[in-house]
Amino acid sequence: MADQIGIEIRNLYKIFGPRAAELMEKVRAGATKTELNEQHHHVLGLNNINMSMAAGQIHVIMGLSGSGKSTLIRHINRLIDPTAGEVMVGGENVVGMSKEALREFRRHQTAMVFQKFALLPNRTVLENTYYGLEIQGVPHAKRVDAAMRWIERVGLKGFEKKYPNQLSGGMQQRVGLARALSNDAPILLMDEAYSALDPLIRVDMQTVLLDLQKEIRKTVVFITHDLDEALRLGDSIAILRDGEIIQQGTSQDIVLRPADAYIENFVREVNRGRVIRADAAMAALNGAEPPAGRVSGSNTLDDAGRIMVQNGMTRLAVIDDHSGQPVGVLTMEAIMAAITRHNAAA
Ligand SMILES: Nc1ncnc2c1ncn2[C@@H]1O[C@H](COP(=O)(O)OP(=O)(O)O)[C@@H](O)[C@H]1O
Ligand SMILES: [Mg+2]
Repeated sequence: MADQIGIEIRNLYKIFGPRAAELMEKVRAGATKTELNEQHHHVLGLNNINMSMAAGQIHVIMGLSGSGKSTLIRHINRLIDPTAGEVMVGGENVVGMSKEALREFRRHQTAMVFQKFALLPNRTVLENTYYGLEIQGVPHAKRVDAAMRWIERVGLKGFEKKYPNQLSGGMQQRVGLARALSNDAPILLMDEAYSALDPLIRVDMQTVLLDLQKEIRKTVVFITHDLDEALRLGDSIAILRDGEIIQQGTSQDIVLRPADAYIENFVREVNRGRVIRADAAMAALNGAEPPAGRVSGSNTLDDAGRIMVQNGMTRLAVIDDHSGQPVGVLTMEAIMAAITRHNAAA
């Protein structure tokens, strides 16, 4: 497996338009997207983005259409040049790379999965999957080997001789994923990769990614406009609005401590039982004897409720995932409170 590498984005700005550089001063002084638009006819795409994406985790960037998600992800492999700022990948500033260095970097360190699959219609599943390796000059037998391994891992074994138009949307997206994984790049960039899929297929594909990630441990940057998808997939989640990050944190941070009314509005529609963890709603043990029933701290309130109902219990000991020790008590009342309150400060 390729070495893991993280991504650091520092003071990144993107202004679209011919006088971008001149307008930087105004933006640094606090000019808004609307001001820039109305007074200067330039688009403020990104406004002072700072992010630290740890290696080997799934980082979700969430926001409504036009908030700057694609602009941001395209800076990571420099499909877009910033107006100001740094994009450090594995300690190297992508913004300063020469043409050749950038080409090597894109080819070997990053892989992309697209919303529209971008499969070649006259190539089979197998030929599409090893396409990147073919371009890299990897010998035929070796690239078939690698491609077959990923075709199997994404659940497409037996379909390798089919053509894209013989596959459903979900299956085509599996090919897109297998192709991206075949080149063994440590960074996987997914821009609304699942947004065109039907809801059930989409949830399936989320499961595929989560299962794969346990093994591949890539640094995944995953873009979505869907909060449920963000909460399910993200080790970290950044929420963008008008080119600015308005909150960064874990799913628990976003749901339990929304940064402002805008995010609270989104969060209101979330199925809290499926997101809030047992250890976020527990009470401290305070030296008391832990209850006999147990639930892992990382399990959801839904999971905990199910364990209670199945065992006729109303209290569970919450077990720390790492130490295996009981660290708190979760009661049925606490579950109900966390699920029904809009702002459980549990
Ligand atoms: N090449 C461009 N020229 C001018 N404006 C652009 C360009 N690309 C994107 N924008 C603008 O930048 C903002 C962010 O766009 P984008 O990153 O595509 O948003 P998202 O992916 O979140 O839907 C939008 O206001 C969009 O209109
Ligand atoms: Mg986009």
